[in-house]
Amino acid sequence: MGMLIEGSQGHPIKERWNTVGVIKVAINGFGTIGKRVADAVDAQDDMEVVGVTKTGPSFGCDLAVKKGFPLYCTFDDEESISRFGMNGYECSGGLSDLLSVADVVVDCAPGKLGADNLSKYKSAGIKYMFQGGEKHSLTGLSYTSSANHVENLNAQGTRVVSCNTTGLSRTLVPLFEHCGSLKVECTMIRRAADPGDSNRGPINAIKPVLKVPSHHGPDVMTVKPEIEINSLAVAVPTTIMHVHSIIADLPPGHGLTTESVIELWSNTPRVIIMNGSEHRITTTAEVMEMARDIGRKWGDLHEIFVWEDGVKLVGDRLYYFQAIHQESDVIPENIDCIRALMGTESDWRKSVEMTDSAISRYYGL
Ligand SMILES: NC(=O)c1ccc[n+]([C@@H]2O[C@H](COP(=O)([O-])OP(=O)(O)OC[C@H]3O[C@@H](n4cnc5c(N)ncnc54)[C@H](OP(=O)(O)O)[C@@H]3O)[C@@H](O)[C@H]2O)c1
Repeated sequence: MGMLIEGSQGHPIKERWNTVGVIKVAINGFGTIGKRVADAVDAQDDMEVVGVTKTGPSFGCDLAVKKGFPLYCTFDDEESISRFGMNGYECSGGLSDLLSVADVVVDCAPGKLGADNLSKYKSAGIKYMFQGGEKHSLTGLSYTSSANHVENLNAQGTRVVSCNTTGLSRTLVPLFEHCGSLKVECTMIRRAADPGDSNRGPINAIKPVLKVPSHHGPDVMTVKPEIEINSLAVAVPTTIMHVHSIIADLPPGHGLTTESVIELWSNTPRVIIMNGSEHRITTTAEVMEMARDIGRKWGDLHEIFVWEDGVKLVGDRLYYFQAIHQESDVIPENIDCIRALMGTESDWRKSVEMTDSAISRYYGL
C-alpha cells in the first residue's frame, strides 16, 4: 500500500509504509517493455517493484533513479556491477541478488535470451514470466487476460503473448465465447521498428514475412486452441502501430449482426471502438494523437483500437480492421498475469478492473 508523491520531473513515485503481503516483482530488462511494466506494477496497491536490471550504465538508468526503483546489473560479475558506480549510479547488485528478494520476475530482456534466463530463474526458485519474443515451448504455457487467466493460476511460469497475439485475442475471444467456434484469416501490417530503435527497417520498402503462415495468428491458439486461425504478415515503414486486417467466419446460427458485434466489443475491456469518419480518426497517426491526448505516459494506448465503420458482417463472414500500440497493449496483461501466477485473483475481469483503475489513478486520469 502507498500513496503517490510527485517525483523529480513530474514522475509519480509511490511512497510505501507497509509492504507486508505485497507481491515483490523483479523486472529483468528495463527497455521498451520493462520500463512500462515497472510503471504499471508501481501503480498497483497489491504489488511493488523490488528492482530493475540494466546491462550497464546508460540514459535509461536515470528513469529508474527518478522513479525510485532499485537498480541492479543484468550480470553478476563484479566488473559489470562496478561500472554503474563509476558512472554515478548506485547499483544494488547483480541479477542473483535481485531474484533473491523477489516473488516473481518479469523477463523483459530481448527475445531469444529466454532459455539462458530461465535456468537462472529456476535456480533461484522464483516464479517467472516471459514476453512474446520467446516461443510458447519455452514455458509450455502462455497468457492473455481474457483467454486463459484461470489456466495460469498458481503456475510456476508462463509467457505473456506478443503485442499482435494480445490484440487478436482481445477481439476474437469474446466473438468465440459468443459463437462457440471461429475460423479466422488475418494479415498483420506491422510497424518496422519501435520509435526508439535505430537499427531496424525497412525504411522505404514493404517487406512480406515469407514464412507462411506467419506465427502471429497461430500463436493465438497457445491461449485459445479452439480458435482456428492463420495469418500473413508484412512489415511497413512506420514506427507507431500495427494494423490487423481480419476476416472471421462465424458458424451458422451465430445470431450476430454488424451492430451487435460492435456492441459486443463496446462492452469488452481494453477495446476502444470509434467511428473513424465521424471522429476524423482514420489513420494510425490520429489514433496515436488521441492516445497522447489521453495522458498516459509515453503516449501509450493499452486498448486495441477498432474502427467502427470498418466492421461489416456479410452473411456469416465478418470483416474488420484494428490497430495495436505495440509498445503498450501487453502492459496491463503483465499485471493480470502476475496475479494469476501468484494465485491472488482468480477472476480475470476483476483483475482487469483492478489493474486498469490503478493505472488511471496513477496518472491522474
Ligand atoms: N517492443 C515491442 O513492441 C514489444 C511488444 C510486445 C512484446 N515485446 C517483447 O518484449 C521483450 C522485450 O522487448 P523490448 O522491446 O522491451 O526490448 P528492448 O527495448 O531492447 O529492451 C530490452 C532490455 O533488456 C536488457 N537486456 C539486454 N540483454 C539482456 C540480458 N541478457 N538479460 C536481461 N536483460 C537484458 C536491455 O538492457 P540495456 O537497456 O542495458 O541495453 C534492455 O533494458 C521481447 O521478448 C519482445 O519480443 C516487445
